[in-house]
Amino acid sequence: MRKKTIPVHAKKHSAGKKPAPVKPKSRQTDSRKSHAPLGLSSQNKIIKLINSSLNIDEVLNLSMKLMEKTLNATASSILLYDAETNELKFYLATGSKKDILKVIRMPADKGVAGRSFLTGRTLLIPDASKSPFFYKQVDDTTKFVTKNLIATPIPIKGKRIGVLEVLNKANGTFTKQDMQKLKNMANEISVAIDNARLYDEVKSAYIVSMLNMAQAEKFRDIDTGLHIERCGEYALHLAPDLGIPQKDFDNLRVSMMMHDIGKVAIPDAILLKPGRLNDEEMTVMKTHTTKGGQILGQAPLLQLAVDIATCHHEKWDGTGYPNRLKDESIPLPARMLAIIDVFDALLSKRPYKDPFPPEKVKEILLEGKGTHFDPQVLDLFLQRYAEMCVIHSSMS
Ligand code: C2E
Ligand code: SIN
Ligand code: SIN
Ligand code: FE
Repeated sequence: MRKKTIPVHAKKHSAGKKPAPVKPKSRQTDSRKSHAPLGLSSQNKIIKLINSSLNIDEVLNLSMKLMEKTLNATASSILLYDAETNELKFYLATGSKKDILKVIRMPADKGVAGRSFLTGRTLLIPDASKSPFFYKQVDDTTKFVTKNLIATPIPIKGKRIGVLEVLNKANGTFTKQDMQKLKNMANEISVAIDNARLYDEVKSAYIVSMLNMAQAEKFRDIDTGLHIERCGEYALHLAPDLGIPQKDFDNLRVSMMMHDIGKVAIPDAILLKPGRLNDEEMTVMKTHTTKGGQILGQAPLLQLAVDIATCHHEKWDGTGYPNRLKDESIPLPARMLAIIDVFDALLSKRPYKDPFPPEKVKEILLEGKGTHFDPQVLDLFLQRYAEMCVIHSSMS
């Protein structure tokens, strides 16, 4: 559950180091219409899970604050058990030392926390300095002085996954009632954590199946080779220039890779046509954007992927499709992909065209500066042009 995939919506990056235009004003809502191309039977279950477990850390943080208030405690933490190393690890902590705590681990058989974890009991320690169990290395590192504490295990489905602690009652010491309250809180927290874990599992399975679907073109004999993989790669090379943080990279990569997923709904006669498409065929072809958004939008797991699939053929000057969005109302990742996608298409062979040489490709991209492409994003892309060309040739 550490890796919540936070959608990389353009607006989140306005604090990025480069002043790239970053404010989407509208989002495609029509991409959520109820077609059911996936026929996933567990759709409703998924959606329920997500609604109950999104923003798990915020929910937990709020619960902990509430708990501290109720118990008059100065700090609190959640430690989770790591079976690989047999340690308890601070997952969340409040109070002034919370940042240092994040890197601290303690052996699962040490400390009050470890004892509570191993025995399954709720332990009240009225004076930490006199407790034989207290693991003072944590305090030594943080310089926090633990006077008293309660630790209680966090149970999930008959197993224990970690420990919840409150520390330093503001007046006096903790009571039996406090212990009971903390126990109740641990039960509630366990439901939230369990949902978040299920959510992550469901999400991973969903991403895998969507990526498989995005690759389906390969089984239709279309000559795009590693186009999908390259698009993910180019995007990660451009992302830091736009202030997109590293924690969003996984989500960005898979979302970029899914941009043409809607092509599964385009008939072979059009998708594989060796020559130019006529107007009617092009109209059908253009629906790969909205169809992609619909497929990915079946469950609200990958809003970023929905945005990219729907908007990657929009143009900066508002003449693109499907919604004629203009400049910053096009989500930033879609503006990135617009450049990446055309760059890669031009350098590659398509059923309807031969590859262009890199210098010619650059010329064509520059012709689209400020009309087809976001001029600032294009400048950043061109600053890395040689690097991008290497990606193309090494992944062909
Ligand atoms: P694609 O082949 O991956 O092309 C993606 C985008 O790259 C195109 O979006 C276009 O903006 C750009 N592009 C590709 N080839 C050229 C080119 O020769 N010159 C220039 N200036 N730009 C190029 P677009 O046009 O919206 O097309 C979307 C998708 O529709 C294409 O993806 C391709 O799958 C299909 N398509 C477009 N035109 C034709 C065509 O004439 N014949 C066939 N069979 N498919 C086409
Ligand atoms: C302990 O469990 O013994 C120490 C835990 C802490 O300092 O938070
Ligand atoms: C394709 O041309 O079928 C896939 C590549 C793309 O349009 O981005
Ligand atoms: Fe496309």
